[in-house]
Amino acid sequence: MRLGREMHLVARPARLIPEAGDVRLIEVPVPDPKPGEVLVRNLYMSIDPGALMHMKDLSALDIPHFATDTAMWCDAVGEVIESADEDLKAGDIVWHRLGWRDYAVASATRFRRVDAGAYPSLTHHLCFGIVAYIGIELAGIRPGDTVLVSSAVGGVGSIAGQIARLRGASKVIGSVGSARKVAYAKETLRYDAAFDHHDEDFRLQDDIDVYFDSVGGRQLEAAIDAMRPRGRIVVCGQTEQLHSGVPNGPRNMMTLVRKRLGLQAYYTFDHPDLVPKFEEEFPQWVRSGDLVVAETVVHGLENGVDAAVGQMRGEYVGKVVLRL
Ligand SMILES: NC(=O)c1ccc[n+]([C@@H]2O[C@H](COP(=O)([O-])OP(=O)(O)OC[C@H]3O[C@@H](n4cnc5c(N)ncnc54)[C@H](OP(=O)(O)O)[C@@H]3O)[C@@H](O)[C@H]2O)c1
Repeated sequence: MRLGREMHLVARPARLIPEAGDVRLIEVPVPDPKPGEVLVRNLYMSIDPGALMHMKDLSALDIPHFATDTAMWCDAVGEVIESADEDLKAGDIVWHRLGWRDYAVASATRFRRVDAGAYPSLTHHLCFGIVAYIGIELAGIRPGDTVLVSSAVGGVGSIAGQIARLRGASKVIGSVGSARKVAYAKETLRYDAAFDHHDEDFRLQDDIDVYFDSVGGRQLEAAIDAMRPRGRIVVCGQTEQLHSGVPNGPRNMMTLVRKRLGLQAYYTFDHPDLVPKFEEEFPQWVRSGDLVVAETVVHGLENGVDAAVGQMRGEYVGKVVLRL
């Protein structure tokens, strides 16, 4: 009998950071696939803010959360090692949402075969290119735009800034959480400028046409003040509120009205229409080197929760991926 490990949520953390005992790595028997099912050995899984968020009870927000005493889940890439399905074959590389476990056994319909050669690395199938791509499409970049990106070297932000440039922005500015990240944004991701949002009383020096917002709160407030009239704000996340647990909205919403700013929030799954265009353009940008997929790879399922906490604390650059 094959055995595999799964990360279970045992108790909902009282605070953002789970305590010892809230999660447990357990060993379980891995069943053989039944007709129509496949057995997948996971190779990589995504570490993202969702890991800590889904540990909470999110019923009031109408967002799914982890059940207790069952395996947690997240995006993952793995290899089919046994198949009882007509379509998927042993050796196929698949993307799916049954991460946080060594092996996934489920209906073949829950796995999507990917082209293993589409990117220089299998990890790139987990990057948040699609999230960034949709946000930048919704923003409608015009040649010459000045674009501000928050969490600018994070999983989503590191790609959003680069796509804005590819779409014709003339100046791309990154907001990040450390001096090391300022250097990374400018040297590796080719941002024109970057600043540390921890600097007390930071002021945006530029007039902004587009703000790509992942964090909300204080940075959204500063962006609204710096926007040009009729500028566009796209909101993909609210990390500041997620992390502090305290609503900390902008206090200058009247400025939003006065400047006639557009503000659009989105979930990636709202825009399946943009996926074919993304799949055509994005791998080409990566393969040609026009776009750098920034990432940090951590190792070992047992280190996954610490990695999620480290990511939230801003310890990594790029998309955080765990090698199982
Ligand atoms: N709408 C969608 O469909 C969708 C899909 C996926 C993800 N998202 C959202 O996109 C956002 C980014 O996700 P990601 O995976 O790319 O994460 P990420 O940006 O790689 O990591 C989170 C980053 O947030 C920053 N941060 C932490 N605490 C902060 C605070 N109090 N104030 C401001 N910044 C803080 C840190 O970067 P610094 O060190 O630079 O501050 C940290 O590294 C998240 O809000 C996530 O929920 C949305």
